[in-house]
Amino acid sequence: MSSRFYITTPIYYVNAEPHLGHAYSTVVADVQNRFHKLIGDETFFLTGTDEHGDKIVQAAEKLGISPREYTDRISDKFRQTWPLLEIEPDRFIRTTDPEHMKTVQLALQKVYDKGDIEFREYEGLYCFGCERFLVERELVDGKCPDHKTEPTHLKEKNYFFLMSKYQDWLIDYIKANPDFITPERYRNEVLAFLKDPLDDLCISRPISRLTWGVPLPFDENFVTYVWFDALINYLTGLDYPNGDRFERFWPAANHVIAKDILKPHGIYWPIMLKALGLEPYKALHVHGYWKTKDVKMSKSLGNIVKPQWLVDQFGADGTRYCLMREMVFGLDAGFSQESFVLRINADLANDLGNLLSRSLTMLFKYKKGAIPSFHDLDGPHRELTAAWKELVPVWKKEMEAFRINKALAQIWKVLNVANKVIDKSAPWELARDESKQALLDSVLYSLMETLRLAAVLISPVMPEAAGRILTSLGLDPDKELSSKGLEPGRLASGTQAKKIKALFPRIGPSKKQAKAEKAKKQQQKKAVKEKKTIEDNLITIDDFQKVELRVGEIVGAEKHPNADRLLKLTVMAPEERTIVAGIAEHFKPEELVGRKVIIVANLKPVKLRGVESRGMLLVAKDKGGLHLLSVPDETEPGSRIS
Ligand code: MSP
Repeated sequence: MSSRFYITTPIYYVNAEPHLGHAYSTVVADVQNRFHKLIGDETFFLTGTDEHGDKIVQAAEKLGISPREYTDRISDKFRQTWPLLEIEPDRFIRTTDPEHMKTVQLALQKVYDKGDIEFREYEGLYCFGCERFLVERELVDGKCPDHKTEPTHLKEKNYFFLMSKYQDWLIDYIKANPDFITPERYRNEVLAFLKDPLDDLCISRPISRLTWGVPLPFDENFVTYVWFDALINYLTGLDYPNGDRFERFWPAANHVIAKDILKPHGIYWPIMLKALGLEPYKALHVHGYWKTKDVKMSKSLGNIVKPQWLVDQFGADGTRYCLMREMVFGLDAGFSQESFVLRINADLANDLGNLLSRSLTMLFKYKKGAIPSFHDLDGPHRELTAAWKELVPVWKKEMEAFRINKALAQIWKVLNVANKVIDKSAPWELARDESKQALLDSVLYSLMETLRLAAVLISPVMPEAAGRILTSLGLDPDKELSSKGLEPGRLASGTQAKKIKALFPRIGPSKKQAKAEKAKKQQQKKAVKEKKTIEDNLITIDDFQKVELRVGEIVGAEKHPNADRLLKLTVMAPEERTIVAGIAEHFKPEELVGRKVIIVANLKPVKLRGVESRGMLLVAKDKGGLHLLSVPDETEPGSRIS
């Protein structure tokens, strides 16, 4: 039976450009929208931008442009970003749209006429960051816990929405409807907030302080507070109050948000709807934060990841897959490029991509690309046919509950079975055996049908890849991507498959990583080489003992008759010998006589420019030149040095 499904994202403040955090909520909404379309529901998907308030005026002032110019610019960035990620909203709303401003005024008037809005003097602590009055118990060390700034004391007359009147109703409603706020931890959090008495909500700002907002219909000296303005977008999106869409889609509203805006959505919004005489939305789906290095990703912290960068690195499908697979809906998740690359290589290039290319290769080799018939035979492929039937209902249940990561994990379980079936059944062996042709057909059929079904089930997350798989199986994606496509075993034999390029090429390391990797390898090589040289140069004690070092006393020194650089020395060690040394540039002959030095005594005699030399002097060499190695004066000439 077809139902109606209305899905929304938060409307994003235009004081920051779109980043991975915004992309996540919007991809979740798009995935849900595609999923509900796939199962045959009538759907409507709304996203947009929130453009009023102090912060926007300040951001525009900083750039020296008008708020209008500023909001146009950033809102457009959001609008242009979503197609990059294959996000296809049915409507993109802006709170500065005249029809939205009219709807806000209509809603305000309604609530005012009902007596739920009151004008009173208020004196309190105003946080400019939150754009609202805080109460004493919200402060931490006297400061706003979110902005870490001391609130300003203000006294002014304002309009108040009498929320407290509806507090008991809301508690009862949440208790009676367990799926109203999910996952459960956030439902509990809202119920915990509601244990304390609710303060009435100040919903106006005097125009002396703020003009960039929706004027109150009943007092031109005031504009509406941002949250009252922003939340109403979910109604404007359906052309409330008289639109046909509103008729069809309210109250089938599913709001996707992160936990930062739980209070306005879990408390103010249902109470506003109640005051308007409308039914509460169907469900609030609350997710956690994407963090980098344990810190929430946000513009103010300067740690954002841009959607365009994600698409450049991982492709649109790859990004969507990783976002959906890596975050457990409701909990925080850490972003890292490495974990996304690992995911893509393991799950998409390997498990899914290889399964497709291996299966197609065999189909073309053994069957010329035509899908064979399935025979009711025993074999490893039975595991697959059993898995299909269980998979669809489980996948559907997880998707309906926004546990998209689990829904994907279920599909991958079956892909892994398929990869094992190839190894177990060894189609290349069946192909050689005439009597095994029916079994070969059944194995190949099961593999192709697994791929068809997987393509349909992944299509909400990876629409492009799903289309390519279906096309390669010779099918029309437009026909297959419908509730009919969810019937296992529907692939018709005889369908002619087509060869395609790799579905998800493996991602190599990034340039920066590759460079770092190369530098590391070179470093390692160098270290190994240095170690080797040291090792090659090592000598044993026997080697050392071959060298006979002795103390020698220079008793005579003169210039070499045939060479300027050489000196001819007479050395006692203990017997007299001649040593020719290349030290004439460093020493005068007369300073050498009487010195006790160290000589290598067992060198083979050589003739140097006509004079026979028997031994060598030891010197140390440094920047200052040569220094003779000597021993204390009392050492006997000829003593062995060891
Ligand atoms: N304008 C309000 C919402 C009004 S809805 C009637 C607002 N805007 S916002 O630009 O600050 O967007 C907040 C939302 O952006 C979060 O609720 C979440 O959907 C998304 N995210 C922003 N940063 C995020 C993360 N680091 N991680 C996950 N989601 C994040 O609040």
